[in-house]
Amino acid sequence: MTRNMLRDDDLSPAEQREVLELAAAFKRDRFLRRPLEGQKTAAVIFDKTSTRTQVSFSVGVADLGGNPLIMDSKSSQMGGKESISDTAKVLSRMVEIIIWRTYAHAGLEEMAANSTVPVINSLSDDFHPCQILADLQTIREQKGELNGLTATYVGDAANNMGHSYLLGFATAGMHIRLAGPAGYEPRADIVEDARRIAAETGGSVEIFTDPVAAVSRADAVITDTWVSMGQEEEKAARIATFGPYRVTGDLMSHANDDAIFLHCLPAYREFEVAPEVIDGPQSVVWDEAENRVHAQKALMAWLLERA
Ligand code: CP
Ligand code: NVA
Repeated sequence: MTRNMLRDDDLSPAEQREVLELAAAFKRDRFLRRPLEGQKTAAVIFDKTSTRTQVSFSVGVADLGGNPLIMDSKSSQMGGKESISDTAKVLSRMVEIIIWRTYAHAGLEEMAANSTVPVINSLSDDFHPCQILADLQTIREQKGELNGLTATYVGDAANNMGHSYLLGFATAGMHIRLAGPAGYEPRADIVEDARRIAAETGGSVEIFTDPVAAVSRADAVITDTWVSMGQEEEKAARIATFGPYRVTGDLMSHANDDAIFLHCLPAYREFEVAPEVIDGPQSVVWDEAENRVHAQKALMAWLLERA
């Protein structure tokens, strides 16, 4: 049966480990596997802007032997002009895999339900599972293992990154903590799913409002923009609310001495992270960005082998 990657818990703990092993192998050997040799085509569709996702999928698909077809909803019949289900049926006849960055997560579910080729979520309003695989690869490179580590995500705990950290890091057997202001809590059903996964993997899930308590003795401190794509009109209110959640050198001093700092990027140094942190010695953000290529190649190869 065709497998998809729409949210982080679409991979079981054992499957996530397989994909991360393969990601490390691709990093050592760029052309390790060529499942798109032919050249077969991957549709890479954007309803929102992107630098890393666009480049990493373009490079990754080419490395796998394939042709990345970059599309967007404005210049195609997508975006309300043609139904998602009809689009999925047509694309399935022409391409080997569909990668889509969009707004409502339900659209991805409809695409997957009507596609006969694997569908990858390259960011929806609710999840960003490709980023989480790259983050896990980065943390594993730095710390040697994932199981039992504590990671704290500070900022907008209600956004796609917050939700994906909950599911993806719980799957990895990590202790995942989220800290955000009241009114920006993660969705209750996702917290519940993450707690259920953590109970199986030996991890844990904690939700805080106090950023200092949340980063105490953390192995990794993570943040993201306070204003996600689609929330631009809320910018002023969000910046006023999220101020106490800025990751500064002082906040980092409450984490473990060897704690690392991650950010999916793009970063706003005047808001969610201070330059001394993102440009300082604890930051691994450039490895994290590079690992998008390796992790996504592993994910695509893994899914294509099961299609
Ligand atoms: N982190 C991330 O997905 O970056 P882009 O929005 O540039 O793709
Ligand atoms: N939360 C951010 C992530 C960007 C990669 C957004 O959705 O805009």
